[in-house]
Amino acid sequence: MIQNVAVIGAGTMGNGIAHVFAQNGFKVNLIDVNPAQIEKAIQTISKNFDRQIAKGTATEDQKKTALANIQSRSDFAAGVKDCQLVIEAATENQELKLKIFKQLEEHAPETAILATNTSSISITKIAAITSRPQLVIGMHFMNPVPVMKLVEIINGYATNKEITNTIVELSKKLGKVPCVVNDYPGFIANRILMPMINEAIYSLYEGVAGVEEIDLVMKLGMAHPMGPLQLADFIGLDVCLSILEVLHQGFGNPKYAPCPLLVNMVTAGRLGVKTGEGFYSYAVTGSKELVVSESLRKG
Ligand SMILES: NC(=O)c1ccc[n+]([C@@H]2O[C@H](COP(=O)([O-])OP(=O)(O)OC[C@H]3O[C@@H](n4cnc5c(N)ncnc54)[C@H](O)[C@@H]3O)[C@@H](O)[C@H]2O)c1
Repeated sequence: MIQNVAVIGAGTMGNGIAHVFAQNGFKVNLIDVNPAQIEKAIQTISKNFDRQIAKGTATEDQKKTALANIQSRSDFAAGVKDCQLVIEAATENQELKLKIFKQLEEHAPETAILATNTSSISITKIAAITSRPQLVIGMHFMNPVPVMKLVEIINGYATNKEITNTIVELSKKLGKVPCVVNDYPGFIANRILMPMINEAIYSLYEGVAGVEEIDLVMKLGMAHPMGPLQLADFIGLDVCLSILEVLHQGFGNPKYAPCPLLVNMVTAGRLGVKTGEGFYSYAVTGSKELVVSESLRKG
């Protein structure tokens, strides 16, 4: 039975994952190499609870209990040692994830389920670095985690069926809707979403339309709740670039090649909401404001 959960990585996703587990009565160890990130994550969780309280979807008592369920940990070994489930939500980088799963083999209990929130990296490859690939699975939450219903569950080549069933049932306990898919680059969510975002960036790069026009067409024309460029800002442009690179390499198909404008923006450190600036500026008031200038347009 799963009671203690370790979440590795306290960034955009890690704080949301810790939030939903803690809200549903699980004990959570929130681990990050950067202690400042953990502190920031706890503040974000607290703020997000306040938002839920204002909407009437959570109470002050639930917030208090949930925050008490979360332990900040900068010591990896101590953080994972008593957990029945580990969810890795560290930076989207294959080498880093392989390193973390190697460490998990050393420090996590032998029977612990080892899940990754990766957006695109092969579950089979991550599993193969361990000697317990049957316990490794993809548990792909969507951003923002407390709000989004879907959990895309990804079976690696060797994932045991019982482990899949456990994660399906667990996702339901968190109030989420699980959907099980197989392990190919980008799975389903990002295989379909990222080419759309990349195409939106290409449309901007080629001067077909501006940021607001592109987002407006997709919002009003396709009934998307937000446009693809704003969505990219929320996901993080570095995350989008990493996923496109995985799709590009994994399928060997040039249609997934990341747009040079995306590469430039990531190189310049314009990563979207988390750095205060991407296709929009979020810096001063938290409200969005256009920053992409005419000079970025070609043609
Ligand atoms: N951002 C999204 O919308 C989104 C959606 C679904 C899945 N994901 C996936 O979730 C994962 C995390 O993405 P994110 O957007 O939260 O990234 P992020 O950059 O916001 O946070 C990553 C965190 O990992 C920490 N970290 C790095 N190395 C570590 C290590 N060795 N041990 C512990 N912590 C470490 C960093 O300090 C940082 O706090 C990625 O695999 C990403 O693909 C992201």
